[in-house]
Amino acid sequence: MATLLDGKKLSQKICAALKSKIAKIERLKDKKPGLAVVLVGDHSASQIYVAKKEKTAREFGFYSEVHRLPAASEEKEILNLIKYLNESPKIHGILVQLPLPAHIQTQAILNAVSPLKDVDGFHPLNLGRLFIGDPLFIPCTPQGVMELLKEYRIEISGKSAVVIGRSLIVGKPLAHLLLGQNATVTICHSKTKNLEEVCQTADILISAMGKPHFIKNSFVKEGAVVVDVGINRFHHKIVGDVDFENVQKKASFITPVPGGVGPMTIALLLQNTFKSFERSAS
Ligand code: GUN
Repeated sequence: MATLLDGKKLSQKICAALKSKIAKIERLKDKKPGLAVVLVGDHSASQIYVAKKEKTAREFGFYSEVHRLPAASEEKEILNLIKYLNESPKIHGILVQLPLPAHIQTQAILNAVSPLKDVDGFHPLNLGRLFIGDPLFIPCTPQGVMELLKEYRIEISGKSAVVIGRSLIVGKPLAHLLLGQNATVTICHSKTKNLEEVCQTADILISAMGKPHFIKNSFVKEGAVVVDVGINRFHHKIVGDVDFENVQKKASFITPVPGGVGPMTIALLLQNTFKSFERSAS
């Protein structure tokens, strides 16, 4: 039976450490790190994610602002808000919740966020810095996956890592982080042929495809480390991409859903915001 990669526990540890650092700084300097979240429209999953980010930020001592804009907002209004947040001394991290409504050019919005406050790491400058191996802000979900692997002392160097998904949010940055730690990385996507056979070669298998219970036992090599980034609604429950019940019997380590990668994303968002705050003060 696989050992659980407990993201809930590790995220609590990271957030508790941040909370005590913030309390200390606040006592000395009467300042605290601030996070602004921009939510446009009424995408139902985004509402839940944003509420969770706000609640967690407050719980651990951060100043938090959520800006909710109507779905019909014009690009210019969002750009004006971002400009204001870029200049606000109370704000050290800005996150624009994705997806944005279809009439908005997502990349134009992401490009407008100051790279120095881009705690999601989606600005081209931050993605480029990750690509050359000199990161400033690393996207939170991939960073959370790497922290989980580190916490459980999972060897990466020389291992075969298969990443399913090529998004800018998860797959591409994660592949770079794994490569940076000397894994041999394969990126799979919707056009990949023989996905099952490719997955069978993985020492570390990471799925960010968004298909409930798609990764069956037969995809997994005996003793593989399985990381499930999927969050899918399925028969009124939240499930991952991995058929957890069966795959846990074959894997050496596995993330649960919920309680695996999800809480790590928020912990790393807060950690990035704290780092930005520290940088701004120095
Ligand atoms: N939508 C889904 N995941 C994310 C994320 O990590 N950051 C942002 N901004 N939007 C998301």
